[in-house]
Amino acid sequence: MATVSEPAAAVAGPEHMPDHATGEMVDFNVFRGTPETAQGDKAYKVPMVPGMVVLDAMHYIQKHVDTDLAVRWNCKAAKCGSCSAEVNGRPVLLCKTRVDEMPEGPITVRPMKAFPLIKDLVTDVSGNFAVNQKITPFSPTEADANDPQPWRIKEPDIERLYEFRKCIECFLCQDVCHVLRTHDLHDRFYGPRFFVRVAGLEMHPKDAADRRDEVREDGGIGYCNITKCCSEVCPEHIHITDNAIIPLKERVVDRHWDPISWVGRKLRGK
Ligand code: SF4
Ligand code: F3S
Ligand code: FES
Repeated sequence: MATVSEPAAAVAGPEHMPDHATGEMVDFNVFRGTPETAQGDKAYKVPMVPGMVVLDAMHYIQKHVDTDLAVRWNCKAAKCGSCSAEVNGRPVLLCKTRVDEMPEGPITVRPMKAFPLIKDLVTDVSGNFAVNQKITPFSPTEADANDPQPWRIKEPDIERLYEFRKCIECFLCQDVCHVLRTHDLHDRFYGPRFFVRVAGLEMHPKDAADRRDEVREDGGIGYCNITKCCSEVCPEHIHITDNAIIPLKERVVDRHWDPISWVGRKLRGK
């Protein structure tokens, strides 16, 4: 009876063995394809080098096996947020994911699922920048804007904002959130990264705008059911749910459902 054999994993010749290779070969299944061409995982064998991260392995493949493998990266220091992808099904930065910390067996590397595919491991994340533009920017009062003196802000207020400013816009939180990933509600849900931005603006002591209607109506914050998956994948360890989303939800609830606020709005004719 005829048997179907797995295609052999692509491997570079022995002349491409890196200097510090341990001799062990690591198996990778890497997604290849574009929206217009065939898509699927391709098997590769990559020589293990101590301390190697998944991005190193992709670069090895790119240099020695398939030079057309598309992978986006810039800093290789977990700071630019470019190399986001999914390793063994988990959204991660490729440059921060060590190969020696992966479980036994082939390592799968795929593009982020929540965004349109461009090629191989590269997705189109431009929709996020369009969301960003919808958010009312930092808006100080006229008096503050024209104040020639440096603003004096209490340290606890600044501390609270530092956490949000650590965001590197990797969009891993957007990728993992089921509202975008599974339900595809990109047109009516800002997503966790942008709730972080709105929270940073709303909590800024010198900001005078009120984004509560915006975040409820355009931003769809009500779709978030606090699964906290976003906080779990954030490489900057921002407490997205506890420190940004829940306080924002509380502010929205205060505005819309608090009876005293309701009476106040009625009296003001709003
Ligand atoms: Fe990335 Fe965290 Fe910013 Fe989300 S909040 S984009 S996971 S750094
Ligand atoms: Fe999504 Fe994070 Fe809420 S994963 S559902 S935005 S807690
Ligand atoms: Fe910059 Fe990975 S290459 S975060």
